[in-house]
Amino acid sequence: MPLKSDLQHWGSVAKTLHWLVVLLILVQGALGLVMVGLPKKPFILAFYSLHKSIGMTALILAALRLGWRAFDPRPQEPASTPHWQALGARAGHALLYLLLFAVPLSGWWFDSLAALRPLYFFGLFEIPPLATPNPGMKAFARGAHEWLFWLLIAVALGHAAMAFVHQFIRKDSTLSRMLPGRRTLATSAATRMSESTSATLEKLHVERTIPAASPVAGSARRKPGA
Ligand code: HEM
Ligand code: HEM
Repeated sequence: MPLKSDLQHWGSVAKTLHWLVVLLILVQGALGLVMVGLPKKPFILAFYSLHKSIGMTALILAALRLGWRAFDPRPQEPASTPHWQALGARAGHALLYLLLFAVPLSGWWFDSLAALRPLYFFGLFEIPPLATPNPGMKAFARGAHEWLFWLLIAVALGHAAMAFVHQFIRKDSTLSRMLPGRRTLATSAATRMSESTSATLEKLHVERTIPAASPVAGSARRKPGA
């Protein structure tokens, strides 16, 4: 499957990054919500470290995704999509990109303000703090991290619901072309479309040329108006 997207299909890089980031957000959300409810014992440090490292990975992938997007063409919306809906979808995608950065950055910010332990990336190297320690701002940053996460989930649910509307109500290729390994389906849909377009063009051509070439066909066509 080609790495790059084109005007009809998402390429494998865009698809992989989309679904990998979705997976990481789900894992991170579950891990975050579970770990804050655990009894404050030393074993929870491992969960916190894992959460922070996966969160930094999600941040890196979001940056890679945006970077790749700058060089990758974006498939067009199906022709049947009304203009206001296309604009709405783009605004929703922009908000999702914003939140993909805001959620991990707010976690990193909270961690820096709290300054309880150095931040290690999977135990490999230390990541510098985002801000100087500030216990007075900690509660605000913690709340921001939590509420930005819930906002991301709410917007992502609306986004997923729209994907299902496209799939099951509008019956277009918006969702199927984002699914792994489905380029052939999208291609065959495109081929079917171009085949039906050619058939229509051919029919028009025949209708325009036959009356002049064949008196029988010409008389048959003139009959209703006679
Ligand atoms: C996509 C990335 C992330 C997601 C989806 C996420 C999600 C969450 C969630 C849902 C919670 C529980 C909030 C609560 O109920 O209080 C949480 C807590 C936490 N997160 Fe994240 N997080 C992400 C990235 C990060 C990063 C990058 C860091 C730090 C470098 C971080 C640090 C923390 C900390 C320290 C807590 C515990 C807060 C507390 O003690 O109450 N998170 N996160
Ligand atoms: C945390 C969850 C999710 C996030 C953050 C997210 C984010 C995004 C973003 C930013 C785009 C725009 C891509 C671009 O223009 O570069 C996109 C596209 C897309 N997403 Fe998601 N997504 C999430 C979950 C889902 C789910 C659950 C589904 C399906 C059920 C889905 C289906 C799609 C589809 C079909 C597109 C392509 C839309 C088009 O061609 O116009 N996404 N997603």
